[in-house]
Amino acid sequence: MKLLLLCLGLILVCAQQEENNDVVIRNFDISKISGEWYTIILASDVKEKIEENGSLRVFMELIYALDNSSLYFKFQTKVNGECTEFSAVADKTEEDGVYSVNYDGYNVFRISEFGNSTYIIAYLVNFNKDRPFKLLEFYAREPDVSPELKEEFVEIAQRQGIVKENIIDLTKIDHCSQP
Ligand SMILES: *[C@@H]1O[C@H](CO)[C@@H](O)[C@H](O)[C@H]1NC(C)=O
Ligand SMILES: *[C@@H]1O[C@H](CO)[C@@H](O)[C@H](O)[C@H]1NC(C)=O
Ligand SMILES: *[C@@H]1O[C@H](CO)[C@@H](O)[C@H](O)[C@H]1NC(C)=O
Repeated sequence: MKLLLLCLGLILVCAQQEENNDVVIRNFDISKISGEWYTIILASDVKEKIEENGSLRVFMELIYALDNSSLYFKFQTKVNGECTEFSAVADKTEEDGVYSVNYDGYNVFRISEFGNSTYIIAYLVNFNKDRPFKLLEFYAREPDVSPELKEEFVEIAQRQGIVKENIIDLTKIDHCSQP
Protein backbone atom coordinates (compact mmCIF):
# COMPACT_ATOMS: atom_id res chain seq x y z
CA MET A 1 0.00 0.00 0.00
CA LYS A 2 2.84 2.38 0.81
CA LEU A 3 4.32 1.86 -2.63
CA LEU A 4 0.94 2.36 -4.23
CA LEU A 5 0.53 5.64 -2.42
CA LEU A 6 3.96 6.76 -3.42
CA CYS A 7 3.21 6.03 -7.08
CA LEU A 8 -0.07 7.80 -6.83
CA GLY A 9 1.50 10.72 -5.08
CA LEU A 10 3.82 10.99 -8.04
CA ILE A 11 0.99 10.84 -10.56
CA LEU A 12 -0.87 13.59 -8.73
CA VAL A 13 2.20 15.70 -8.19
CA CYS A 14 3.11 15.40 -11.87
CA ALA A 15 -0.43 16.31 -12.82
CA GLN A 16 -0.10 19.37 -10.68
CA GLN A 17 3.24 20.37 -12.03
CA GLU A 18 2.00 20.07 -15.59
CA GLU A 19 -0.85 22.34 -14.66
CA ASN A 20 1.49 24.81 -13.06
CA ASN A 21 2.87 25.62 -16.49
CA ASP A 22 -0.19 27.66 -17.34
CA VAL A 23 -2.75 27.69 -14.56
CA VAL A 24 -2.03 27.89 -10.89
CA ILE A 25 -3.55 24.82 -9.28
CA ARG A 26 -3.60 24.71 -5.53
CA ASN A 27 -5.18 22.37 -3.03
CA PHE A 28 -8.69 23.47 -2.22
CA ASP A 29 -9.13 24.94 1.26
CA ILE A 30 -10.91 21.97 2.83
CA SER A 31 -12.41 24.16 5.57
CA LYS A 32 -14.60 25.65 2.81
CA ILE A 33 -15.80 22.38 1.33
CA SER A 34 -18.79 21.47 3.48
CA GLY A 35 -22.15 21.81 1.77
CA GLU A 36 -23.95 21.07 -1.48
CA TRP A 37 -22.08 20.30 -4.68
CA TYR A 38 -23.25 19.39 -8.17
CA THR A 39 -21.38 17.32 -10.73
CA ILE A 40 -20.77 19.41 -13.84
CA ILE A 41 -18.40 17.30 -15.97
CA LEU A 42 -16.62 13.96 -15.58
CA ALA A 43 -13.58 12.89 -17.59
CA SER A 44 -11.86 9.52 -17.51
CA ASP A 45 -9.45 7.47 -19.55
CA VAL A 46 -11.83 4.50 -19.06
CA LYS A 47 -15.06 5.84 -20.48
CA GLU A 48 -17.34 2.99 -19.40
CA LYS A 49 -16.85 4.01 -15.74
CA ILE A 50 -18.58 7.33 -16.39
CA GLU A 51 -21.07 6.17 -19.01
CA GLU A 52 -24.64 5.24 -18.22
CA ASN A 53 -24.66 2.66 -15.38
CA GLY A 54 -20.95 3.27 -14.79
CA SER A 55 -19.96 3.13 -11.10
CA LEU A 56 -18.19 6.48 -11.21
CA ARG A 57 -20.90 8.37 -13.02
CA VAL A 58 -21.66 10.09 -9.73
CA PHE A 59 -24.15 12.87 -9.14
CA MET A 60 -22.64 14.63 -6.15
CA GLU A 61 -25.00 15.99 -3.52
CA LEU A 62 -23.04 16.80 -0.37
CA ILE A 63 -19.49 16.91 0.88
CA TYR A 64 -18.69 17.44 4.55
CA ALA A 65 -15.35 17.93 6.24
CA LEU A 66 -15.55 15.79 9.41
CA ASP A 67 -13.92 16.71 12.73
CA ASN A 68 -11.39 13.91 12.32
CA SER A 69 -10.16 15.35 8.99
CA SER A 70 -11.94 12.74 6.88
CA LEU A 71 -14.38 13.78 4.16
CA TYR A 72 -17.97 12.54 3.94
CA PHE A 73 -19.56 12.31 0.49
CA LYS A 74 -23.18 11.74 -0.42
CA PHE A 75 -24.02 11.11 -4.06
CA GLN A 76 -26.29 9.19 -6.41
CA THR A 77 -25.44 6.88 -9.24
CA LYS A 78 -27.69 4.88 -11.53
CA VAL A 79 -27.57 1.17 -10.83
CA ASN A 80 -29.43 -0.83 -13.50
CA GLY A 81 -31.17 2.36 -14.56
CA GLU A 82 -32.32 3.26 -11.01
CA CYS A 83 -30.97 6.23 -9.08
CA THR A 84 -29.33 4.89 -5.95
CA GLU A 85 -27.93 6.90 -3.08
CA PHE A 86 -24.45 6.18 -1.78
CA SER A 87 -22.26 7.67 0.87
CA ALA A 88 -18.54 7.25 1.40
CA VAL A 89 -15.92 8.50 3.83
CA ALA A 90 -12.49 9.37 2.49
CA ASP A 91 -9.56 9.47 4.89
CA LYS A 92 -6.52 11.71 4.73
CA THR A 93 -3.33 10.06 3.61
CA GLU A 94 0.18 10.88 4.74
CA GLU A 95 0.50 13.21 1.81
CA ASP A 96 -0.86 16.71 2.23
CA GLY A 97 -4.18 17.18 0.43
CA VAL A 98 -4.41 13.55 -0.72
CA TYR A 99 -7.34 11.38 0.42
CA SER A 100 -8.17 7.71 -0.08
CA VAL A 101 -11.51 5.94 -0.26
CA ASN A 102 -12.76 2.45 -1.03
CA TYR A 103 -15.42 2.62 -3.71
CA ASP A 104 -15.34 0.27 -6.70
CA GLY A 105 -11.75 -0.48 -5.76
CA TYR A 106 -9.22 1.70 -3.99
CA ASN A 107 -9.18 5.37 -4.92
CA VAL A 108 -6.79 8.14 -4.14
CA PHE A 109 -7.60 11.73 -4.96
CA ARG A 110 -6.65 15.34 -4.53
CA ILE A 111 -9.07 18.26 -4.59
CA SER A 112 -7.84 21.41 -6.22
CA GLU A 113 -9.13 24.94 -6.56
CA PHE A 114 -10.61 25.83 -9.89
CA GLY A 115 -11.20 29.55 -10.29
CA ASN A 116 -12.71 30.48 -6.95
CA SER A 117 -14.12 28.56 -4.02
CA THR A 118 -17.40 27.89 -5.85
CA TYR A 119 -15.68 25.32 -8.10
CA ILE A 120 -13.43 22.36 -7.49
CA ILE A 121 -11.68 19.70 -9.52
CA ALA A 122 -10.97 16.30 -7.99
CA TYR A 123 -8.04 14.42 -9.56
CA LEU A 124 -8.63 10.76 -8.79
CA VAL A 125 -6.85 7.52 -9.59
CA ASN A 126 -8.73 4.25 -9.12
CA PHE A 127 -6.87 1.00 -8.47
CA ASN A 128 -9.00 -2.09 -8.84
CA LYS A 129 -8.28 -5.53 -10.16
CA ASP A 130 -7.87 -4.17 -13.67
CA ARG A 131 -5.47 -1.46 -14.66
CA PRO A 132 -5.54 1.85 -12.75
CA PHE A 133 -7.52 4.61 -14.37
CA LYS A 134 -7.80 8.38 -14.00
CA LEU A 135 -10.89 10.41 -13.30
CA LEU A 136 -11.24 14.17 -13.24
CA GLU A 137 -14.38 15.52 -11.62
CA PHE A 138 -15.62 19.07 -11.91
CA TYR A 139 -18.03 20.12 -9.15
CA ALA A 140 -19.82 23.41 -8.59
CA ARG A 141 -22.12 24.95 -6.00
CA GLU A 142 -24.70 25.49 -8.75
CA PRO A 143 -26.27 22.88 -11.05
CA ASP A 144 -24.67 24.48 -14.12
CA VAL A 145 -21.81 26.85 -15.00
CA SER A 146 -20.80 29.03 -17.97
CA PRO A 147 -19.69 27.43 -21.26
CA GLU A 148 -16.32 29.23 -20.87
CA LEU A 149 -15.63 27.50 -17.56
CA LYS A 150 -16.64 24.12 -19.03
CA GLU A 151 -14.28 24.71 -21.94
CA GLU A 152 -11.48 25.51 -19.51
CA PHE A 153 -12.10 22.23 -17.69
CA VAL A 154 -12.15 20.28 -20.98
CA GLU A 155 -8.75 21.75 -21.81
CA ILE A 156 -7.37 20.75 -18.42
CA ALA A 157 -8.70 17.19 -18.87
CA GLN A 158 -7.17 17.00 -22.36
CA ARG A 159 -3.83 18.12 -21.01
CA GLN A 160 -4.12 15.22 -18.57
CA GLY A 161 -4.31 12.91 -21.59
CA ILE A 162 -8.07 12.35 -21.63
CA VAL A 163 -9.58 12.45 -25.11
CA LYS A 164 -12.58 14.66 -25.80
CA GLU A 165 -14.95 11.69 -26.34
CA ASN A 166 -14.27 10.65 -22.74
CA ILE A 167 -15.33 13.98 -21.27
CA ILE A 168 -19.00 13.92 -20.33
CA ASP A 169 -21.10 16.97 -19.45
CA LEU A 170 -23.56 15.68 -16.85
CA THR A 171 -25.59 18.88 -16.81
CA LYS A 172 -26.91 17.88 -20.24
CA ILE A 173 -28.31 14.54 -19.20
CA ASP A 174 -31.06 13.19 -17.00
CA HIS A 175 -30.01 13.91 -13.42
CA CYS A 176 -30.99 11.87 -10.44
CA SER A 177 -33.32 14.15 -8.49
CA GLN A 178 -31.71 16.30 -5.84
CA PRO A 179 -33.16 15.67 -2.34
C1 LIG B 1 -13.62 9.73 10.79
O1 LIG B 1 -14.97 9.62 11.17
C2 LIG B 1 -15.80 8.91 10.25
C3 LIG B 1 -17.23 8.97 10.73
O2 LIG B 1 -17.34 8.63 12.06
C4 LIG B 1 -15.29 7.49 10.07
O3 LIG B 1 -16.08 6.80 9.14
C5 LIG B 1 -13.84 7.55 9.58
O4 LIG B 1 -13.32 6.25 9.46
C6 LIG B 1 -13.00 8.37 10.55
N1 LIG B 1 -11.66 8.52 9.99
C7 LIG B 1 -10.57 8.15 10.63
C8 LIG B 1 -9.27 8.40 9.93
O5 LIG B 1 -10.59 7.63 11.74
C1 LIG C 1 -28.32 0.80 -17.99
O1 LIG C 1 -29.14 -0.10 -17.28
C2 LIG C 1 -30.49 -0.14 -17.74
C3 LIG C 1 -31.26 -1.08 -16.86
O2 LIG C 1 -30.60 -2.30 -16.68
C4 LIG C 1 -30.51 -0.58 -19.21
O3 LIG C 1 -31.85 -0.53 -19.68
C5 LIG C 1 -29.66 0.36 -20.03
O4 LIG C 1 -29.60 -0.09 -21.36
C6 LIG C 1 -28.24 0.43 -19.46
N1 LIG C 1 -27.47 1.39 -20.22
C7 LIG C 1 -26.30 1.09 -20.78
C8 LIG C 1 -25.64 2.18 -21.56
O5 LIG C 1 -25.79 -0.01 -20.67
C1 LIG D 1 -16.69 32.94 -8.75
O1 LIG D 1 -16.59 33.21 -10.12
C2 LIG D 1 -17.83 33.30 -10.78
C3 LIG D 1 -17.60 33.52 -12.27
O2 LIG D 1 -16.29 33.38 -12.63
C4 LIG D 1 -18.66 34.45 -10.19
O3 LIG D 1 -19.93 34.48 -10.81
C5 LIG D 1 -18.82 34.21 -8.70
O4 LIG D 1 -19.50 35.31 -8.11
C6 LIG D 1 -17.47 34.03 -8.03
N1 LIG D 1 -17.69 33.66 -6.65
C7 LIG D 1 -16.95 34.14 -5.65
C8 LIG D 1 -17.28 33.64 -4.28
O5 LIG D 1 -16.04 34.93 -5.84
